[in-house]
Amino acid sequence: ALPQYDQPYRPQVHFSPREHWTNDPNGLVFFDGEYHLFFQYNPFGDVWGHMSWGHAVSKDLLHWEELPVAVPEKDGVMIFTGSVVVDHENSSGFCKPKTECLVAIYTGYQEHFPGGTRQAQYVAYSVDRGRTWTNYDKNPVIDLKMADFRDPSVFWDEERHRWVMAVSLPKEHDVQFYSSTNLKQWALLSEFGQLGDTDGDWECPDLLRVPSAQDPTKSTWALKVGLNPGAPQGGSGEQYFFGAFDGKTFTASHEKGAHGWTNYGKDDYCAINFNNIAKDEKPVLLGWMSNWEYAAKLPTSPWRGQMSLPRRLSFVKDVEGLGLKQEPVVETLRDGAATTLTSAPREAPFELQVTFDPKAEQIFGMRIYSDKEHYVEIGFDRKNQQLFMDRTKSSVTVAQEFPGTTVAPLTEGRGFDLHVIVDRSSVEAFAQDGTIAMNNLVFPTKPQVRVETFGSKPTSAQVWKLKSIWK
Ligand code: FRU
Repeated sequence: ALPQYDQPYRPQVHFSPREHWTNDPNGLVFFDGEYHLFFQYNPFGDVWGHMSWGHAVSKDLLHWEELPVAVPEKDGVMIFTGSVVVDHENSSGFCKPKTECLVAIYTGYQEHFPGGTRQAQYVAYSVDRGRTWTNYDKNPVIDLKMADFRDPSVFWDEERHRWVMAVSLPKEHDVQFYSSTNLKQWALLSEFGQLGDTDGDWECPDLLRVPSAQDPTKSTWALKVGLNPGAPQGGSGEQYFFGAFDGKTFTASHEKGAHGWTNYGKDDYCAINFNNIAKDEKPVLLGWMSNWEYAAKLPTSPWRGQMSLPRRLSFVKDVEGLGLKQEPVVETLRDGAATTLTSAPREAPFELQVTFDPKAEQIFGMRIYSDKEHYVEIGFDRKNQQLFMDRTKSSVTVAQEFPGTTVAPLTEGRGFDLHVIVDRSSVEAFAQDGTIAMNNLVFPTKPQVRVETFGSKPTSAQVWKLKSIWK
């Protein structure tokens, strides 16, 4: 890896900024041959503050080039989470005549506002492929005069030929939907909320169409919303609802499996999908791989915070109901052909695909050891019908809230397959054909690890070495 990306725990297949703090991904968009990743960024330090939009671009969703800060904090307004759209028809009037350009819609946060704090929705635009941005001179574009009102996610509604925004009222546990024809004037369409889990703030909503995994001509709508704190796994988590969107209102489905968690680990938050990807492609979701419980305490330097792998989304429907299927984008990083899994020492990053046939065993899976006392355990527990990942004994001390076991309910009949991507400070697991995703940060005691299976013997076990993205 390049020297500036070769520190202990530095992710090798995940994006992290060269230095300083990051949280949520922002403004994910494909434009003119490039994927853009903007991100919540503190240009001055490795804890949250001075929030601005950092920026990176990629041609393949994996190899990122970090560019200068795109939208800096200015005049006492921090640049919070939001999205970017391609304004193909210059509906905003921000683009040069007869051209398309990028428009960002984000939350402006004023820490020092008469009588408290203020969050409102702002707009900025770029006519040079996202390199430089100009704030709209009549900002904010939506101001409810509230302290908590944030994280606009905008997409183009093909059928009604207008923009739709999902934005959160965190304390009310509500997502509001607005529409606009010019990205400047917005009209309230409807609200969705007080459903599912409401134990914490609702943040980072994202409404998207998800294709069927079995029949690509079919699709359904999904609304994803972050919950912090109070997620079942502790701290920050993300739930999704499958349902119908008629251009105005999102109605949650009551089918089995229609409500679940996009990630059952502790470390995946504020994921959003890329705007403007080709219509025949599955949507791509990417999140921040951390948790507000301990994000500021992670033992990394000179950066703090990293993104998850991008995941292609679809839905499965079987006798057990609905499920959100996630397939990590990582294949092009494989370094040579698969080998059979042995317990030989190996170094991250690597990828595993293991399938079990449980026979008589109740608990089986794998352990990733950095030494005899330190390991992560990932397994299937048939008695409790759960997939689990236990990092209690995994690592150096990080924070009081860090050790623990995360669990996800297993669906009868969906099998015992595990797809695991191990990087220098994370373990991402996908099980039951991608219908369970579980991301957990792990800080091993040393770089070399050994993988061993336990309980049932796997019916197949393959491993790929992965190439570093920082070359
Ligand atoms: C979620 C969040 C967002 C907010 C941003 C601020 O992690 O709290 O709601 O826009 O982070 O950095």
